[in-house]
Amino acid sequence: MENIYLIGFMGTGKSTVAKEMSKLLPLRVVEMDETIEMLASESISDIFSNKGEAAFRDMETMFLNAISKEKNQIISCGGGIVLRDENIDTMKKSGVVCLLEASPEVICDRVNNSNNRPLLENKKTVEDIKAILDSRQERYQKAADLTFDVSANTPMEIASEIIKALALKGYLH
Ligand code: S3P
Repeated sequence: MENIYLIGFMGTGKSTVAKEMSKLLPLRVVEMDETIEMLASESISDIFSNKGEAAFRDMETMFLNAISKEKNQIISCGGGIVLRDENIDTMKKSGVVCLLEASPEVICDRVNNSNNRPLLENKKTVEDIKAILDSRQERYQKAADLTFDVSANTPMEIASEIIKALALKGYLH
C-alpha cells in the first residue's frame, strides 16, 4: 500500500491521529520529528537553537527522501514539511497526502501548554498563530489530496473518517 502522509499546522493532532489509524490499518507509524530527534540525538528545540532552522529543514528533507522509498507507512510530518516544494513533490509521488485543519482558536488552545515548538516560542496568541497559518495556507492547500477538519471530533473519529475517505477514493488497496 502506498504511504499515507498526515500534514497540518502544529497542534492539529497528526501524531495522535496517526497512532489511532495504525490500530485500524496494518501500517506502521513513522513520527518524523521524533525520529529526527533520535537520529540527531538532540531535541527539535536544541536543533533550532544550536544549528538553526535551515539545518532542521535540511534534516527533514533528507529524512523524508529516505522514508518515502518505503511503503506501507502512516507518516506523521512536522508542520513545516510543506515549506519546500521538493517535499511536496516527494510526498505526492510516494503516497496520499491528508491535511488536518483547525481554526487558530482551536490550535491556540492545543499548543498553549507545550514548550517544544521553537516557532511558537512567545508566539502563542490566536493572532500569532493566525499569522503563521495564513502565511502557510497556500502551501498546505497545494500539498493536500484530502482535507479533514479536526476541530470537533476525537482522534479515533478522525482516524476512521480519514480511512473511510481513503477507501472511498480507492487509495486503500
Ligand atoms: C514545525 C512543526 C513541528 C516541528 C518544528 C517545526 C513547523 O512539528 O517540526 O517545530 O514549522 O510547523 P509539529 O507540527 O509536529 O508540532
